[in-house]
Formats: sequence, C-alpha cells, structure tokens
Amino acid sequence: MPGADATAIEQGVRAALTGVIDPEIRKPITELDMVDSVAVDDDGRVQVGIRLTIVGCPASDRIERDVRQAAETVAGPGRADVLLTVMTPEQRQALTERLRGGRAARGNPFGPGTLTRVVAITSGKGGVGKSTITANLAVALAARGLTVGLVDADVHGFSIPGLLGLVDEHGTAARPTRVDDMILPPVAHGVKVISIGMFVEPTEPGGRASSVAVAWRGPMLHRTLNQFLTDVYFGDLDVLLVDLPPGTGDVAISLGQLLPNAEVVVVTTPQPAAADVAERSGVVARQTGQRIVGVVENMAGFAGPDGGVVELFGSGGGALVAERLSEGQPEPVPLLASVPLSIALRQGGDAGTPVVVSAPDDPAARAIEQVAEHLANLPRSLAGRRLDVSVR
Ligand SMILES: Nc1ncnc2c1ncn2[C@@H]1O[C@H](COP(=O)(O)OP(=O)(O)OP(=O)(O)O)[C@@H](O)[C@H]1O
Ligand SMILES: [Mg+2]
Repeated sequence: MPGADATAIEQGVRAALTGVIDPEIRKPITELDMVDSVAVDDDGRVQVGIRLTIVGCPASDRIERDVRQAAETVAGPGRADVLLTVMTPEQRQALTERLRGGRAARGNPFGPGTLTRVVAITSGKGGVGKSTITANLAVALAARGLTVGLVDADVHGFSIPGLLGLVDEHGTAARPTRVDDMILPPVAHGVKVISIGMFVEPTEPGGRASSVAVAWRGPMLHRTLNQFLTDVYFGDLDVLLVDLPPGTGDVAISLGQLLPNAEVVVVTTPQPAAADVAERSGVVARQTGQRIVGVVENMAGFAGPDGGVVELFGSGGGALVAERLSEGQPEPVPLLASVPLSIALRQGGDAGTPVVVSAPDDPAARAIEQVAEHLANLPRSLAGRRLDVSVR
C-alpha cells in the first residue's frame, strides 16, 4: 500500500475514533488518551491499539466493539483489529487529573460557585415516594437532553439502584468502576448514579445488599456524602439530584454545608395531617441556606374503574404545604404537581424501569414530567453565587 494511502487511512480512522465514547466516563476515547496507536499494513488492514483505564474494565467489550466498528467504516468490513492494553499508573494519573479539570487536589465540584443546578428531594415523613419521584425526575430530565447525576444520600434505606434497574437478579447493586481514587458512577436510563448500596456487601453470598443495615451516625454520613461529591467523577452536569432520607436529620444538615447552592423540592402526601412534618423539612432546608423551589404532592387520588376518583390519602396536603412554606417569602412556593397513586408507577419502580419510560402516558408519569419541565426551565438564581470565570 503506497504511503500516502496509508496515511489517509490512518487519519480517517483517527477521525472516526473521535466518535467512540467511553461508556463510563462519557467522553470520546480520543480525549481520554486511550488511543495508543493506529497502524496500517501493506494491505490496508488497520490495527488500533487501545489503552483501557484499568485491568478488567467492565466496559472493555463495548469499547472494543465500538472501536472496531469505527475503524471498519474506513478500512472496510473485517479489516480492522483492536489490541487492548492497559494504561500505566502515570497515564492513569494524568487522565484523572485532566478529568478533574487540572486540579490534582480533590475537591467537591458542586460547592459554592458551581454551575450545576443541585436539587435535593426531601420530605418529613418516610415512604411518601421521594426516591420514586427522584428516580423518575432524573430520567425525565436526562430524556430532555440534560446531563444528569443522581446521588442516593439515603445511606440507611438506599433504594435508587433498584428503582433504576442497577441491580442483578439477587438485588445486589452494580459496582462502580474505580480508576485509581476516582469512582465512575454507573449509568442508568442516561443518569449517572451513585448510592451507598453500591459499596455495601450483602451479609451472605447471594443475599440482598439492601437488607444490610448501615448503622452509621452523623460524622460517617457526612464523610460518605462528601466522598460521593469529591471522589465520584460526574463530569460537567447540568443537574445533580440528591435523594434524601426521610426527616430532618444529620444528612440534611450535611447537605446544607456541602451543597450550599442546593435547591429543595418537598414531597408530601395529600393528607393534611402530614403537612406539619413536611413543612418542617422545608424549614430545616431553609435554615441551612437552601431555597425551596416547590412542593410535589404524591399518592393523590386516582380514577377508579367506575370513573370516580378515589382519594385514599385525602386531598389538599400539597397545596397546604406550599401555602405554609410561602408565608413571609418574597416569592410564593409553587405546588409543582400532584402525582396520583398509580399501579404503573409502582410496577415501574419494582422492575427498575421508571414509569416515565415504561408508561409515559400514565397520569403519574405525566405529572412527574410536569415537575421535570418546571425544573428544566427554572431560571438560574445566581443571587449570592460566586461566579467562577476561568479562561482556558
Ligand atoms: N404515586 C404512587 N403510586 C403508587 N405507589 C407509589 C407511589 N409513590 C410511591 N409509591 C410506592 O410507595 C413506596 C414508597 O416509595 P419510595 O420508596 O419512593 O418513598 P420514599 O419517600 O423514598 O421512602 P423512604 O422515606 O423510605 O426513603 C414504594 O413501594 C413505591 O413504589
Ligand atoms: Mg427513599
């Protein structure tokens, strides 16, 4: 093969490889220095050398396949080989530093000055559907083209991996890949997800990880949340959702310290008697400096078979909480949606396919879409924020 053709093929292959995305880091492999070599032999066959980040990289099959396909678009079908090797520790360190934006020292990228919209979902009472709503919201926002991360901050009762299908048949959560001290969050339905459930071992082989009691107290919770925010590589996110445990305890206070720009959505049931606790969770969020962007009422009335609306948990709780949280505020706190009780929503959660994906026309899915729409269009409140302007 004349040299000029070989060069053209090599350049073509390199250009094609810019379209291969590392499924975990979610950037082109060419930007990650994963392309070691592109060699073209006398027959025009191509061999691409790829450096994986770590040995046994779970994404290696997919990367190999995508690289081969990209190379074959230039070299022709069956005329590309892929040779997988692994980065040296120095190469890996250079990569993790580059991903952190040149900062060798670790830091929480979602602290003051972040351009990511941070939204924490809270409630006073447990079991009102926070996690279900958060998982669905995350997926709905990702489907709108936003880059979305989700932190399951409920270390005692983590449920996000199950709700998003990140569990195996035993209920054990997916393990994140580690590249040195950087943790790559698994991706589900377009959302980068991290949960304490991905780090605990089931008590017995094959046992459910979610049955493991995590008996940590305040300082440990704070450290865990901090670690999620610093060591997990989320990349540039448009939105980071945080699923909080019920109540107004240690995690909510840590959140105020670690994520001072967080905005808060309060979830409550339609039961007016539950309004007090829901209101309290909002008040604590405010005390730690966070802004309440709205209330979501969940488990509202649903249309029964005869067409009548069954209000299992009464009605009016959402509006009541919104009204009370609006008192004395410069702007009213809106009721963002009333999500009805829904079999499809519950089944979607059990199956790991959120209802916004599995049954988008279900009234509960539509109500959650309404919340996603609101959050996606909310003007950024930059008041009190330090804007980091950096010139590259
Ligand atoms: N609108 C709804 N219709 C039917 N079932 C629902 C609805 N919302 C939530 N559920 C069900 O209620 C249960 C509790 O929901 P979820 O775990 O999301 O609540 P939570 O507030 O996160 O709970 P916890 O306080 O324990 O973290 C789940 O089994 C879920 O499937
Ligand atoms: Mg929950």
